[in-house]
Amino acid sequence: MSEGAVKKEEKPRRFQAIRGTRDLLPPETSQWNSVEQTAHEIFTTFGFGEIRPPVFESTELFARSVGMDTDIVSKEMYTIPDGDIEHIYGLRRSLVEWEIKFGDFRDAELFLGLVVTLLTFIKQAHEDDLTQFEDVGMEALADLTSAAKDLSDLISASSDSKDTETWNRLISLVDRIRLASDRLEIGEDMSLRPEATASVCRSYIEHGMQQLPQPVKLYYMGPMFRRERPQKGRYRQFYQIGAEVLGGSDAPAIDAEVIEMVMMFFDRLELQGVQLDLNSIGCRECRPKYVELLRAELLKVKDKLGPDSQRRIETNPLRVLDSKLESEQGIIATLPRIADHLCEACATHYAAVKHQLERRGVFFRENWRLVRGLDYYMRTTFEITAQGLGSQNAVCGGGRYDGLVELLGGPPTKGIGFAIGEDRLILSLQESGKAPAQLGRDVYIAWMGERAHATAIRAAKDLRKAGFSVELPPVEQKFGKALGQADKLGAKHALILGDNEVSEGLWTLKTLADGSQAKYTESDLIEHLRKSKSLSS
Ligand code: HAM
Repeated sequence: MSEGAVKKEEKPRRFQAIRGTRDLLPPETSQWNSVEQTAHEIFTTFGFGEIRPPVFESTELFARSVGMDTDIVSKEMYTIPDGDIEHIYGLRRSLVEWEIKFGDFRDAELFLGLVVTLLTFIKQAHEDDLTQFEDVGMEALADLTSAAKDLSDLISASSDSKDTETWNRLISLVDRIRLASDRLEIGEDMSLRPEATASVCRSYIEHGMQQLPQPVKLYYMGPMFRRERPQKGRYRQFYQIGAEVLGGSDAPAIDAEVIEMVMMFFDRLELQGVQLDLNSIGCRECRPKYVELLRAELLKVKDKLGPDSQRRIETNPLRVLDSKLESEQGIIATLPRIADHLCEACATHYAAVKHQLERRGVFFRENWRLVRGLDYYMRTTFEITAQGLGSQNAVCGGGRYDGLVELLGGPPTKGIGFAIGEDRLILSLQESGKAPAQLGRDVYIAWMGERAHATAIRAAKDLRKAGFSVELPPVEQKFGKALGQADKLGAKHALILGDNEVSEGLWTLKTLADGSQAKYTESDLIEHLRKSKSLSS
């Protein structure tokens, strides 16, 4: 049997999309395209340009910006050590963490075995020219190689004498190996992006965008990845449409205009039940004081809180305010509110943002419990909900993140932005009855006979050039069957081409909705179709 052939009795495995991922199919994809097209149009009118960052980045980029202790980074990221490199990472980790058992030469031999395997893998990776190995840290590699040789010599020379002195020499060689392998520079972990704000800031710094006229206004759309428990409106691969304003000032009018832009977008899409929640979570000056106050208050009621909130008292007391647990709601209502503890600058900024929103006719609800689950925020935070989404009803989240660019090694830079969950946006539109447009055809060409086929191919080409969608059956069909097929595909017209039509130079066009038909010359046909399309749209 040829390689790759499947044995008769074995049923080939049927693959399914991985849990939490899904196929977006026509006609729904046309709705996605039209939503995205509207975003391109609206964001452009606000002076935003599109950025397309990569979907994977250094893990550390997300750890530093979104925050090590957030759920997103600590539990939900898809981190990818690259192919073979995975073994090398694993081996190195084992070496660095190896606790050698005193006096156990067998253990020392196993350790040596691991070192030799690691060196073999590195040599192979070098030969395979894996980019992570372009500069592995030659000094560390030389140290590792020579220490491994010394260890091997020592083990073979001392198979009989296992005295303390031999053992001490062996331990010091093990330490040398551990240090050297720790110093090897074997690339870095990468992660599928769980969000794109960090990437946009990285890109702003990498491309020296601070030299451009400020602020720089960028938007993006594309897939994000989080290993969350899948449910309605929550996926492991989901899509965001987002925008960021970087640099320039932190004028409250910028916050308000960014929010106005999202609201205009939702308005254009006729999204239903839109509710904007607004808050200010203070700055580096006032927030830590508020967090301490909150922690102290939470400690007083610790026993009445669930395990998640109890843990968060230590790790991130603000997140307790996010709790949806019924039994905690009464307690949370009595906690101190950040609005009463903002420093003067933050209070002034917040008041001005609200004023600027009012000026733009943007309705909002203040929500002091809105803290957001990412570490980089300060001052303005907001979230937008829409109808028909059940518990996962946040369709957009955003806020100000002055200082994030600096945290990533760039100059002090102001920043604000948002991201819309596109899956949820579409779901909400569909729940409120906005069905995707059916993927019909303008013309189905029913042809019979070889001469007619040649004409049909030419007609299809001309009609498509003129922008009509055309279905051209690849094999001859009886007219009755062809018309049935045209109907099933939702075609508006059937173009009938048989021997007669070709000889006469007059083509029959049947309108499927009412069964009427008429004859046209080739040039009149396109004109007629144009008119009928513009009438129906
Ligand atoms: P986020 O709140 O984590 O913020 O996500 C924004 C939106 O993405 C959410 O409101 C939700 O609609 C959608 N979303 C999040 N996770 C999922 C999921 N698992 N399945 C489906 N949809 C989801 C951010 O990502 C920030 N980067 C927003 C931002 C931009 N802040 C400033 N600039």
